[in-house]
Amino acid sequence: MFTISSTFDSNNKHDAVVVGVFSNGTFHPEVDKINDLLKGQLTKLKKTKLKDVEKVYTIGQLNSEMVFVVGLGEKTEFSTETLREKMALVAKQARIDKVINLGVLVESFVVRESIEASDVAVLIGEGLALGMYEVEDYKEKTNEVDVSVENVTLYGENNETFEEAVNVGYTYGMGTNRARKLVNTPGNLLTPADLAEEAVELAKEHGFEYEILEKEEMEKLGMGALLAVAAGSDQPPKMIVLKYSGNKQADELIGFVGKGLTFDSGGISIKPRENMHEMKMDMGGAAAVLGAMDIIGQLKPKVNVLAVIPSSENLLNGSALKPGDVIRSLSGKTIEVRNTDAEGRLILADGVTYAKQLGSTSLVDVATLTGAVLIALGNCTTGAVTNNEDLLGDILEASVETGEWIWSLPNFAPYKQMLRTSDVADLNNAPGRLAGSITAGLFIGEFAEKTPWVHLDIAGTAWQSKASNLGPLGGTGVMARTLAQLAINKELVPKE
Ligand code: BES
Ligand code: MG
Ligand code: ZN
Repeated sequence: MFTISSTFDSNNKHDAVVVGVFSNGTFHPEVDKINDLLKGQLTKLKKTKLKDVEKVYTIGQLNSEMVFVVGLGEKTEFSTETLREKMALVAKQARIDKVINLGVLVESFVVRESIEASDVAVLIGEGLALGMYEVEDYKEKTNEVDVSVENVTLYGENNETFEEAVNVGYTYGMGTNRARKLVNTPGNLLTPADLAEEAVELAKEHGFEYEILEKEEMEKLGMGALLAVAAGSDQPPKMIVLKYSGNKQADELIGFVGKGLTFDSGGISIKPRENMHEMKMDMGGAAAVLGAMDIIGQLKPKVNVLAVIPSSENLLNGSALKPGDVIRSLSGKTIEVRNTDAEGRLILADGVTYAKQLGSTSLVDVATLTGAVLIALGNCTTGAVTNNEDLLGDILEASVETGEWIWSLPNFAPYKQMLRTSDVADLNNAPGRLAGSITAGLFIGEFAEKTPWVHLDIAGTAWQSKASNLGPLGGTGVMARTLAQLAINKELVPKE
């Protein structure tokens, strides 16, 4: 995909050449040359509205057919987010114009004071990959374009580290796209069995160990919470496990646990009909974990990672779980089910316990868990709940690098007390509307017990109802990159 080259020449042949233009200051010298060849067209553009990406035809003045002029705004406002987003928009434009061969004048995008050179490369690779993603449809006349970017020549710093960094970024973007694809797949085409199949495929690609637990094995082990949710559906549940061993000497095993609800109707406590179709995205946590495993499998950091995905549908047949039912989880703790729509925490209870049984020394669960997190944080920020500030700190650090916002919610004792309000069981799965995201998170924390644990509620961030700079309407693949970054940072800074 990527070629690195030191100097751009107007004789170089591309379908489109990409240049960055800041609203203040002069053109980069290379851009200046192109502007001269194009008889000052870029100067004119700069004086007008120049926004994201403007296309200019070169009509023979350059050997490339088009120049994509990217408006970067004020130099002083420039950030890693801007670079990632603008690159994604370039990829989107390239798709529209059926560009196969792209040239990028990297130096015109760089503000040395705000971004390090190696970060520039990562962000270019990542942004381009993210922008290339398109939602698959199932129409008779499909929107699938067979033309997509095949070669990107990056003009600028010509060294191996730069090339490596671009490919790292690209890997992060493609792992995210893999997660997005899963989230966007309709529920009838992505059942728990299908999700398990995807996971096995991923495991085989990267040489991970894997295990898929079937219903009979779950019964033997006593995974009563996952089985209770699955009881209302004809689709058998799956407990999906992948293991990446990048450091056999180390005892640490990071456990990622993803909610794999392939469709959530609410069960007997059924959801309102409006927008229920979007509940095919209720496996966004599982998608994030698989996306992260894809990135990790590619980049092979020297750490050990376990992925556990409890997967089920939440439907309502004659055997379905009912409000008032008391179930026994894998941990032995009993749960009174006050609301069958609070099913995510039930399957995650068994997922977290199983991840512990398999030796996880730290746990991160990712789940589209509560509507309440949308009320608290909106759709741009993931909510976190933790029992360990150090692990949370590591995750926040990773999320700053990936540009995926996370904000931590309180975990004070009274919230935990709200879970102990059942007369007949250890825990109540739905203690009420107050602090809904906190109690949901802490419910899962009951099963993490003393193991360092962070819960990430992505109900607001896993799905976007309109396109953003980084991607189209639908699944965002949120947290795939942050989880991968967390694992990769662990290699860089081994903890005592
Ligand atoms: N999957 C939903 C949460 C959700 C809501 C995800 C909106 C994405 C967008 C979850 O299973 C759920 O139904 N939660 C309930 C919990 C309540 C019954 C305690 C909710 O948020 O209403
Ligand atoms: Mg639900
Ligand atoms: Zn759900």
